[in-house]
Amino acid sequence: MSDSTTRYSLADVAKCNGKNGARTWIVINDYIYDVTDYMDGHPGGPELIEEYAGKDATSGFDDFGHSSDAKKMLKDYLIGELKDDDKKINRKKKHTVTNGIKIDEINRPKRRAFLRMICGRCA
Ligand code: HEM
Repeated sequence: MSDSTTRYSLADVAKCNGKNGARTWIVINDYIYDVTDYMDGHPGGPELIEEYAGKDATSGFDDFGHSSDAKKMLKDYLIGELKDDDKKINRKKKHTVTNGIKIDEINRPKRRAFLRMICGRCA
């Protein structure tokens, strides 16, 4: 997709959760779809999409194993793309950083061994 794509954050998407007159946006593979006008016609019923309103619906969409026709239909509802910071790959990175303590703990024995190697008295 070109640079002229409208970019939204996950927080922007969260506001469009279909509640109190808001529209219904979902994210599939980092692209944002406004499915408000599609929901009532969804063969699986509107509730299935409602569950993901304002959220990342990639797993829900993929888990059902939609047909290629269903995948093609998505482009009719495409309104934008996630900002880079909120893209799936970067969310994973953020998660890793948040879990930094765990990673630190995992590496601690190795650090001790290294310290012992360079200075017998330190470790
Ligand atoms: C947001 C998460 C979604 C979930 C969990 C979901 C789930 C489902 C399920 C369970 C069915 C089967 C209904 C049945 O056989 O009774 C279905 C069918 C279908 N859905 Fe979705 N759906 C989602 C979003 C969408 C979206 C956004 C579109 C298109 C814009 C779409 C298009 C279709 C179509 C065309 C079918 C008919 C079967 C096919 O062609 O694959 N769905 N969906």
